[in-house]
Amino acid sequence: MNIKDLRPRTGDGRKVYIETYGCQMNVGDSEIVLSILQDEGYVYTARIDEADIILVNTCSVRDNAEQRIWGRLQEFKQYKKRKPGLLIGVLGCMAERLREQLLEKERSVDIVAGPDAYRDLPNLVRTATSGGHGVNVQLSREETYAEISPVRLDQNGVSAFIAIMRGCNNMCAYCVVPYTRGRERSRDPKTILHEARELFEAGYREVTLLGQNVNSYAWECEDGSRVDFPTLLRLVAEIDPRLRVRFATSHPKDLSDKLLEVMAAMPNLCRSIHLPAQSGSTRMLALMNRKYTREWYLDRIAAIRRYLPDCAITTDLIAGFCTETEEDHQATLSLMREVGYDFAYMFKYSVRPDTKAARTMEDDVPDEVKTARLTQIINLQNELSLESNRRDVGKRFEVLIEGVSKRSEQQLFGRTSQNKVVVFDRGDHTPGEYVTVEVTDCSSATLMGHLVEK
Ligand code: SAH
Ligand code: SF4
Ligand code: F3S
Repeated sequence: MNIKDLRPRTGDGRKVYIETYGCQMNVGDSEIVLSILQDEGYVYTARIDEADIILVNTCSVRDNAEQRIWGRLQEFKQYKKRKPGLLIGVLGCMAERLREQLLEKERSVDIVAGPDAYRDLPNLVRTATSGGHGVNVQLSREETYAEISPVRLDQNGVSAFIAIMRGCNNMCAYCVVPYTRGRERSRDPKTILHEARELFEAGYREVTLLGQNVNSYAWECEDGSRVDFPTLLRLVAEIDPRLRVRFATSHPKDLSDKLLEVMAAMPNLCRSIHLPAQSGSTRMLALMNRKYTREWYLDRIAAIRRYLPDCAITTDLIAGFCTETEEDHQATLSLMREVGYDFAYMFKYSVRPDTKAARTMEDDVPDEVKTARLTQIINLQNELSLESNRRDVGKRFEVLIEGVSKRSEQQLFGRTSQNKVVVFDRGDHTPGEYVTVEVTDCSSATLMGHLVEK
């Protein structure tokens, strides 16, 4: 009997349902949570109506993200009414930010666990089962769940996310993440490589390395040598040329030429960089505490174009941060045109309690102005995305097949190295294969094409 078998298994076959909001970090964390609970004898269910424990992994990044969760907590009550003894647990960033407040405001909540407290979940469930409240929101400087093998919920069996670090030290003035996720810490590269190799052997063909700022990844080995992000990326890419490797997110202040050199040398490092600008105005960037200027940002874009001429560039933008003028807003629009982003996530500024902006600045851009600016940003990005896709028409791409198209059983979809979705007639191909597709048509969101012989 191994040691694992001797541990008490408190789950007793009870069924756990988990719903995940927010970023890919949370998706990865939900898989870790299930792994921890399964080891204790709990069983995962994808059906909320048969759950004994309902967990919701939450996001605090904008107010509307939190409002959605409050709404969901209301809806969960019906299951509790139907099944006495059912437990409801709030995990993730909102659990960390609101803590006991959650239990006070929403009496149906039994468990509150912050992002670094998941190993304690079996205990918290035990406490809740005996009628108490299971609360742990302790943040850690070390926890990376390094050796825990996540239970994969993604189901496509082709692409997976691997968290390589946790937390964030950047303190962008608007952002709640450093408060909900704690200090930045990197995960042991041995465990990252082990996880990536296992995925490849299980048939996965793409991994995305995740962190809030992957460029500051750093690990000190026992022999005193250091593994930085470019080195880690190379090690993962060397597992097999058939394994595609992506990463997110890069902070522009830390995007190094060394990283671009490593990418240029290895074709399986995907030609796609997510480089959140947030704003095109240097004045705004300083207020946001982003630690770069518009010029610095454009210099990094030029470096990407130099090393990787076929690289897609995507971004995040915020409309209406404190004191933003029409001129600042125009600077964001002109930056977008100058870079020619292939894709963007675009948001209205939302004040987050306790952040530097909330404490020291006034949220003085009226909501209707924020909305109007955001609309202009979105409209421009739609044009840019369409232009970017039109440039691909007539070109051939290697596509990693991910699944059957939503629109037709006869069609498959996959992604190019640039992370663009391509739809094409299936032939006799299946997910996980690489094929060559010639692009024949496009919308602003998707490429359409047909299979060609290599
Ligand atoms: N670490 C990543 C992602 C952080 S959260 C990064 O630095 O890029 C994802 C995005 O949400 C951010 O890039 C930002 O554009 C947006 N965001 C964060 N806080 C916000 C806020 N208070 N209001 C509006 N958007 C916000
Ligand atoms: Fe937030 Fe900035 Fe950290 Fe990104 S880098 S998570 S925006 S504080
Ligand atoms: Fe992610 Fe939202 Fe937390 S974006 S880190 S789940 S606040």
